[in-house]
Amino acid sequence: MSKNICFIDGLEGILKYREIDVNELVDLPYDAISYLLIQGELPGEQELAEYSARLRGERKIDGRVVDVIRMCNFDIDAMEALRTIVSFMSQFDPDLNDNSPEGNMRKAVRLIARIPTIVATYYRMANGKEPITPDPALSHGANFLYMIRGSKPDALEAEILEKDFILSAEHELNASTFSSRITASTLSDLYSAIVSGLCTLKGPLHGGARTEVMTMLEEVACPENAEEFVLGKIERREKIMGFGHRVYKTYDPRGKIFKQLAKELAETKGDMHWYETAEAIENVAIRELVEKKGKPIYPNVDFYSGVIYKYMEIPPQLATSIFAIGRVSGWIAHCFDQYERKKIIRPRAFMLDEC
Ligand code: SDX
Repeated sequence: MSKNICFIDGLEGILKYREIDVNELVDLPYDAISYLLIQGELPGEQELAEYSARLRGERKIDGRVVDVIRMCNFDIDAMEALRTIVSFMSQFDPDLNDNSPEGNMRKAVRLIARIPTIVATYYRMANGKEPITPDPALSHGANFLYMIRGSKPDALEAEILEKDFILSAEHELNASTFSSRITASTLSDLYSAIVSGLCTLKGPLHGGARTEVMTMLEEVACPENAEEFVLGKIERREKIMGFGHRVYKTYDPRGKIFKQLAKELAETKGDMHWYETAEAIENVAIRELVEKKGKPIYPNVDFYSGVIYKYMEIPPQLATSIFAIGRVSGWIAHCFDQYERKKIIRPRAFMLDEC
């Protein structure tokens, strides 16, 4: 029996991928975590080299896909383009309806490798620039930054984005993973299951919160405005984006790491503004919601990731698609597990009250 893909202790704030604590994984290359989630074990040196080579060799997208991206409406969120393009791209995959483990793994490699290229190509075209050809010499994080900027990225930014992909990669049966899993449970193809995940992740109560966090940071604008902003949200009973979680009733362990990374980036850039604005929001929210009202509403995975993107000058329209770049490996791991079970997931309506 393969190790559980994911373990979460919501009371202690513990997250494990295949029984390894995420704090022990976050310094590894994303490719190693992708391999761990899908294959069940961390790769050895040779296995990692081969897997990375496969991924890097599959980063380019078909010219017809580039042409369709060029026809997109550039005023939409990158997630709306991504769900369309992944679906369009599937028809050119020779393994589309080969649901054998080998055929599915070839599709998995193409999806993991090409989703960053689609996002970057859309972003470049939306800003009136030509797409950048992926660089097989660069890591997953470095290559994405290179493809959106057209210049080799700063080492710290590339390292931080690699960690973002790892922290975003997997989280048990969250809404988008469950959505992908349900699609796979009908024995539909892997592309359809990933499109299901993309459509679900986009929602502001889920991965779409990253975009909302960035918009919120820009609205608050400085630490001095945080008190009035948060008190107003609470008074109007509006949700503070990037806070709260169905499972974690303590600080999200990913949120802790993202906060450290955001502080490191702010200090390196010599600009504490966005970090201090976010920290001021956090301090008021925890004082009012946790300490005064006893509600376990802490920063989740999306809050400080929005701060990191501000410093990297990544716009809100790209934030959730970056989440998807990391999460696709988790979706695939769950789909493969579901294909092995050969059982359709078919809940009953009365269970909805428990969800
Ligand atoms: C992700 O499931 C996963 O694992 C998801 C994820 C993953 O890795 O896949 O971790 C990624 O989706 C993180 C969550 C991103 N979403 C947001 O940041 C949006 C803001 N958060 C909330 O919408 C909410 O906290 C949820 C959706 C995350 C969880 O919602 P629940 O568990 O259904 O809780 P609820 O909405 O029923 O709220 C319970 C109480 C309510 O107060 P009362 O009516 O009891 O008085 O807590 C309050 C809520 O008003 N509350 C908040 C709040 N979240 C909950 N109050 C203010 N701000 C918030 N963010």
